[in-house]
Order: sequence, then structure tokens, then C-alpha cells
Amino acid sequence: MRTVKLAMIGAGGIAQSHCRAINDIKEKSEIDFVAIADIDRTRAETTAKKWGIPHVYEDYHEMLAKEDIESVVVTTFNQAHRKPTVDALKAGKHVLVEKPMAATLEDAAAMTKASHDTDKLLMVALKSRYSETWQAAKGIMSTGALGSIYYAETVASRRAGIPGFTDSFIKKETAGIGTVADIGVYCLDEALWLMGHPKPVLVSGIANNLLGKSHTPVRGSWKWDPQKLSVEDFGVAWVRFDNGAAMVFKSVWIMHMDDIGHTFFLGTKAGLKMNPLTVFRHEWGLLTDTVVKGIQEVEDIELFRREEAAFADAVRDGRPSPIPADQMVMTNVIIQGLIDSSAAGHEVPVKVPEV
Ligand SMILES: NC(=O)c1ccc[n+]([C@@H]2O[C@H](COP(=O)([O-])OP(=O)(O)OC[C@H]3O[C@@H](n4cnc5c(N)ncnc54)[C@H](O)[C@@H]3O)[C@@H](O)[C@H]2O)c1
Repeated sequence: MRTVKLAMIGAGGIAQSHCRAINDIKEKSEIDFVAIADIDRTRAETTAKKWGIPHVYEDYHEMLAKEDIESVVVTTFNQAHRKPTVDALKAGKHVLVEKPMAATLEDAAAMTKASHDTDKLLMVALKSRYSETWQAAKGIMSTGALGSIYYAETVASRRAGIPGFTDSFIKKETAGIGTVADIGVYCLDEALWLMGHPKPVLVSGIANNLLGKSHTPVRGSWKWDPQKLSVEDFGVAWVRFDNGAAMVFKSVWIMHMDDIGHTFFLGTKAGLKMNPLTVFRHEWGLLTDTVVKGIQEVEDIELFRREEAAFADAVRDGRPSPIPADQMVMTNVIIQGLIDSSAAGHEVPVKVPEV
């Protein structure tokens, strides 16, 4: 097995989880973690010291030009995903970029195009694809057990969880979009993945931050500064697909409610609900519910390890991206539709970009 030489752009919060995971698997997966860059040099230096990364840069262009690397992990904030990703691809590197793929559809399309133009692998870090529960659900749905899926709801919600611990999550300049990018993109991607990526054609949505702007944190809620919040904390969309199916997508950081529903899929042969993973059928002349047993969910850091290993293996073996840009761009199509529809006040047509 040959060594995969890797570098990172961004040394903030989530970079630490990537570094830890790479550190855990670097011997088994033959990864040589060569360099790290951050516009905040102190962060890059502290991270490099902690994880034993030999070279530090403030300017990632310099790193891409100087270092002998073939792959790059991009962990910058959402509004800074496009440029480092496109620059790294154009410099001939394979890229693993953090989720959401980008803050806008325009950025996501440009990143996908750069990956096609350069013939370099672009993977998006949707760690939930490696979850035991989602893998099990994918396994069931790949057998065709549900028949034709005509309706789904996919939901991510927190009662009071606006992530104000870093301003980069809640400010438009850095995050671009809020809850739909932070927690929503996971359930959206998972639903599209399980449904086999039908193409979205129409979206009607609303997005606002009425609660986050007008409330101050209370005991038991996460802490944030309402003055700084400039992205949505609530986003809901009704999505129609080209195959006639429809989906409701809900992503909420804060609400006056305990629960706004769960992720489920309705098919012509069966229905499937997540958590606990259950298949609902009419069989043997009866109504049956099969609860899947024996799924042991793994720790968050294990998801990062699986993600990093899949990326390194694909780079080394010249295999396609484990979580391809062409799939992930569809999350941006729907999210952009939700934002645009909310601003317009009516349903909007959407189109998967041809790049
Ligand atoms: N996979 C997960 O579980 C998970 C969890 C949290 C965040 N994220 C994602 O990770 C990304 C980063 O989140 P975070 O919490 O680490 O944010 P952060 O603000 O802590 O870190 C971002 C870092 O990027 C650096 N940066 C920005 N522009 C740069 C550039 N041009 N060149 C070099 N460095 C640059 C900043 O200086 C900062 O250190 C976001 O897209 C977020 O959605 C993923």
C-alpha cells in the first residue's frame, strides 16, 4: 500500500476532529499528514503542534505550490468552501470538503465543475453516511423492499440549540446559511441518498430567524448573541421530484415545541421509519411492524475515522468519490430553492446544474 500525502486548509473547531481521526488511522491507512494552513497563523501552529503536523502556512496557495501532497481536507467555514476547494482541485489535488458542500448553489456548482474539469476526486464530509443506522436503512432500501417511494419527511431539530459558541456558524458573512447547512444538510442528504437521488424540480419553503433574533438564551438552551445572528434558525420546504415523489424537509435550531416529527419514507410495498429503524408492511393478511435489532451506533469520532479512511483509500486506489459532488450538489439545489422561495413568497422551479 502506498502512502497518501495529505494537507488541511482550516484549523478551527472541526479541523480538530479531522486531525484526531487522521492521527488514529494514519498508520493503518498509510496517510502522511504533511501540512496545515489557516489565515489565523496561531490556530494553524497550535493545531500543528498538537497533532505533529510538520509544516504550517498562513496562505494555502503557498502550501499548494510548495508541498508534495496529493490530497487536501478543507475545513474552512461555509462561505470559504468554494475558493480553497477549486484552487486545490486546479492545483491537481483531490479534495475532501466539510459539509455543507457550499453556502450557495452557485458555489456548489462551481466546485462540481472544477472536479469534472480537473478529473480530481471531490468528496463532501457527510459523516452520517457512515452511521450504522443509515447504512442499515440504505441496505434495506437497496433491496427494493419499499417498492416505489412516493413520499418522505426528513427532519433535524433542536429545542434550543443555536450554535453561538463560534460566530462563524451564525453570521451570514461566514456561514451564509444557518440551520439548513448545519443540521439540515445531514437529514436532507440521507433522505436523497436513500431515495436514490431523484431530481428536485419544485420547492416551496420558508426560512426565518424570528425566535433567535427576538429571544435571549435561557437556562437549558445553547448560548448565542441575538445581535449577531444573521442566518435562518428555521427552514422548512416542500419538495417535488421529477419522478412524481414529494418530500417535506424541516431543519430547526430553536422552537417552542418538543418534537416536530421524524424521518420516514412511504413506498408502494412498505414504509420505513428511522430511530428506531422500523419497516411497516401489510403481509400475511396482517399489518406488521419490523423493528430492526442489533444496531450499535458508533461514536462521532468513529464516523470521522471511517470518512477519512474512505477518502484516503479512494485517492490511493484511483476510485470514484465515496460521497460525490454530483450527489451533494442536489442538497444545495433544494436548500437554494428553500431560501429563494422564502424570499419570493411562493414556490420556485429548481434545476440540477449541468456542469
Ligand atoms: N462534520 C461535522 O461534524 C462538523 C461539525 C462542525 C462544523 N462542520 C463544518 O466545518 C466547517 C468549519 O466549521 P468550524 O466549526 O471548524 O468553524 P471555525 O470557524 O471554528 O473554523 C474555520 C477555520 O477556517 C479558517 N479559514 C477561513 N477562511 C480561510 C482561508 N481562506 N484559508 C485558510 N483558513 C481559513 C478560519 O480562520 C478558521 O480557523 C463548516 O463548514 C461547518 O459546517 C462540520
